[in-house]
Amino acid sequence: MELKYSEQVYSPREDSKLLKKVVEKYMHEFNPARVLDMGTGSGIQAITAKKIYPDSEVVGVDINPMAVDLAEENAKLNKVDIKFFVSDLFERFHNQKFDLIIFNAPYLPSEPPIDPIWSGGEKFILKFIKLAREHLNFNGRILFVYSSKSPVKFEHKVVAEEKVFFETLYVGEVR
Ligand SMILES: C[S@@+](CC[C@H](N)C(=O)[O-])C[C@H]1O[C@@H](n2cnc3c(N)ncnc32)[C@H](O)[C@@H]1O
Repeated sequence: MELKYSEQVYSPREDSKLLKKVVEKYMHEFNPARVLDMGTGSGIQAITAKKIYPDSEVVGVDINPMAVDLAEENAKLNKVDIKFFVSDLFERFHNQKFDLIIFNAPYLPSEPPIDPIWSGGEKFILKFIKLAREHLNFNGRILFVYSSKSPVKFEHKVVAEEKVFFETLYVGEVR
């Protein structure tokens, strides 16, 4: 996949690559009809999802308008049709439901100055999951990323993990 980068937008790192592998697998196995890529950044997860299963309707959102612009550009570059919107979590999606909701959330606990690209942690992930469940179709799945530096205590299934430098990254699934 060809991607453009920008200093104002999260560039794909180990966490993105680990989640991307799981997204590929889920798109192959479950063929979800509607996919939401929350916190799309460069658009890497949304573009992966659409490329693997072009029949799905894929939507990407980010709180950062510069990410939305970059993701749109990257989708064009990869010749995939994806709608991108600026949205703080689900504020733009009141009555909409999805079959797969993906979020490589900012997983480290917030420390001032709060920057939404980096500040998150378990509390933020839990808030996302609670809202994501309200926007999930029957049999739908939610995928999220977290780190051994900021473990989560709520019930979930670990579907991928990888040791990188001084931490282990996990992809969790909840339904
Ligand atoms: C770790 S980056 C992940 C980017 C990309 N999905 C990836 O896998 O490389 C987290 C993204 O979530 C976005 N974000 C943070 N808080 C958000 C919120 N409340 N609503 C929507 N997006 C948010 C950030 O702007 C950032 O682009």
